[in-house]
Amino acid sequence: MIFSLMLLIQCTSKKENARSILNFGKDWKFQLGDISGAEATKFDDSAWRKLNVPHDWSIEGEFSDKNPATPGGGALPGGIGWYRKSFKVTADDLKGSIFIDFDGVYQNSEVWINGHSVGKRFYGYSSFRYELTPFLVAGDNLIAVKVDNSTQPNSRWYSGSGIYRNVWLVTTGKTYIDHWGTFVTTPEVSDAMAKVKFVALVENKWNPGQKLVVKTDIIDPSGKEVSSGKMETEGTKDSVVSAIFNFELKNPVLWNLDSPKMYSAVSQVYVDGNLVDNYTTLFGIRSFKFDAEKGFSLNGKNIKINGVCNHHDLGCLGSAINKRALERQLEILKGMGCNAIRTSHNPPAPELLDLADQMGMLIMDEAYDMWKKPKNKFDHSTVWDETHKKDLQDMILRDRNHPSVIIWSIGNEIPEQGDSTGTVIAKELAAYVRELDTTRPITSACDHPNVQNFIIRSGALDLIGYNYHQKEYAAFPQTFPGQKFISTESVSALMTRGVYDMPSEEIRRWPVQKDWKGKMPNADNTCSSYDNVSAPWGSTHEETWKVIKNHDFMSGQFIWTGFDYLGEPTPYGWPSRSSYFGIVDLAGFPKDVYYMYQSEWTKKDVLHIFPHWNWNAGQTVDVWAYSNAEEVELFLNNKSLGVKKKQGDDLHLMWKVPFAPGTLKAISRTGGKDVLVQEVKTAGAPAKLVVIADRSSIRADGTDLSFLTVDVLDANGVIVPNADNLVKFQVEGSGAIVGVDNGNPVSHESFKAPQRKAFHGKCLVVVQSGEKPEIIKLTATSEGLPATLVEITTK
Ligand code: GAL
Repeated sequence: MIFSLMLLIQCTSKKENARSILNFGKDWKFQLGDISGAEATKFDDSAWRKLNVPHDWSIEGEFSDKNPATPGGGALPGGIGWYRKSFKVTADDLKGSIFIDFDGVYQNSEVWINGHSVGKRFYGYSSFRYELTPFLVAGDNLIAVKVDNSTQPNSRWYSGSGIYRNVWLVTTGKTYIDHWGTFVTTPEVSDAMAKVKFVALVENKWNPGQKLVVKTDIIDPSGKEVSSGKMETEGTKDSVVSAIFNFELKNPVLWNLDSPKMYSAVSQVYVDGNLVDNYTTLFGIRSFKFDAEKGFSLNGKNIKINGVCNHHDLGCLGSAINKRALERQLEILKGMGCNAIRTSHNPPAPELLDLADQMGMLIMDEAYDMWKKPKNKFDHSTVWDETHKKDLQDMILRDRNHPSVIIWSIGNEIPEQGDSTGTVIAKELAAYVRELDTTRPITSACDHPNVQNFIIRSGALDLIGYNYHQKEYAAFPQTFPGQKFISTESVSALMTRGVYDMPSEEIRRWPVQKDWKGKMPNADNTCSSYDNVSAPWGSTHEETWKVIKNHDFMSGQFIWTGFDYLGEPTPYGWPSRSSYFGIVDLAGFPKDVYYMYQSEWTKKDVLHIFPHWNWNAGQTVDVWAYSNAEEVELFLNNKSLGVKKKQGDDLHLMWKVPFAPGTLKAISRTGGKDVLVQEVKTAGAPAKLVVIADRSSIRADGTDLSFLTVDVLDANGVIVPNADNLVKFQVEGSGAIVGVDNGNPVSHESFKAPQRKAFHGKCLVVVQSGEKPEIIKLTATSEGLPATLVEITTK
């Protein structure tokens, strides 16, 4: 015993890491088109473009209503694309096992290694692995990937095309912990103690008589080992062995939204004393509950789920995943008090869940937008029978260790709600989920949330998910006695940043006609930002929040949507090509209603008055204030326009003000004391640009990003509300401009050009670092205005 333990320690120190995980994104060759024979090792790709993945070729294209994706899919091109990459493997590597992991390829991909097809995958949102070992040779190897996103429309929003998520090369010993092969649950959690159950599935490739040891250490959030376990067995050939550990941790550090502390389970696998694999599983210790009367609680404390739905695109970066771009989205959403994301309507990039774990956000993880009945001619329903079980189970296996994930959704507005196949499929899907995880409730987002609904009637759901129908929420305890409620999708209000249509109290429900024909509401394809426009099936932001806020049983909502996204330009068609639903526009600039939520969902002092102050003399302007102080006093050119206090359920204050140029000033007060002051001034002509980087120091790793906001200001430094100056950008250094935007859903300018028109006084440029530590210089110029220079340090 003493001897074998010593042997173990010696081996550990000789080879600490049996597993290597290599980001495999660099140096791919890419070519658009249906190319014959490109899977062959000897195919000549010397003329192909060299690039790194994640890559989305659609975002590089031109907008056109002729593109088969249609404006609903973002009006950008699809097609077929090929990727190839050569890489070396040593004879030593081949003694172990080598895998390639794709986080996501949109869509319909086939992968070849050295000319051998290793598999096909249709659903573009699934992560998948292929074992390459049997087809590899010592020396040069060639991987080829065909991506066929030519049959469109296949999505109701912009999908992007290509190897748009990360790729990893994973090397282990012959015996190894399986893909997504660990599962951590916390069956009992209190401040004093947590029970942690940890299971590792080991692929058994050792020989009879050899000894297998699996060791797992639990490391607390401060890096201290707090428990450890060891399992020994003698193997038989070719089976899977479960190593099961039960830990009891004293005074656990709980995962919370304010303090999202993570533990890790560090496992090592030994065969006859030799380390053959190591595997780290991050997890959080937390408990949560949905209650039919009290709603949602985390670690015993009731909180509302103040969530948003988001699609996966990253605006001007398309759907090519970039962790910093996603982190910025979450930072902006957290800033308004949002605490949850629904991954509408598909499995997200794994980075979203990592960030949610680290930043303290809750996740409703959703599998599909449709089952067997289609929503679009070429969508996922076309391969449902062959693929749905694997896609769903892969999502659960991949995502079930994330403490942020608190709901599984088996579908969005599934057409089968209306007939008995809905019952059959819902039961089937729920059973697949429960085979792999019983610690989270299952829901389905229902747009016909009534007792006749065949999915709800199946009894397969743990949580009844309502899409819209906010007028029926209050009756839920009578409609579904004893059941638990979540608003899986709400609101669908419509806004263009910087646009204000009066009277502000008049609510527009657009599109006006059910068939979407008839006159476009605003000739310039805009929607007002007073929270006075919504889709007819939805509501304004205030209408739904007033209901949710006042009922404890309502665990919360997921607002459609946090960010604007490419595609689905409701209430307009072409030339609009992106959505108006976002609380934040496509460029990441908050619309006014962001501050309504901030005033309700955070403890920050909030005062936000709008609109801008450039109107015509004599015009009466509706001035709104979002504030969480007791009262707000408004002044125009130092003359008081009166003090207002919110009454009853009010979520904003309003003054009707005859316009005169000058300064509008608001002072918020609580208990007679001034809390905040905000001024809005009449702007003159554009005189200068100011460029502000969200981060002026970034990593020199070739992936990190700085998001720079350009404001067009007048001579006194006031933002010019209708400025649309064309701003040109130039970069010195190894950094690159990887995207530009201004949040205008009607713009057909390229997201990849080094220039952008301002929209309501603002535009955005995104700069990516190179791999050299240096100072990147970005110059912004616009005709008639002085050039502005900013520096970004890369380290
Ligand atoms: C919902 C649907 C979403 C989006 C939204 C727009 O019915 O679930 O995907 O289309 O409408 O309002």
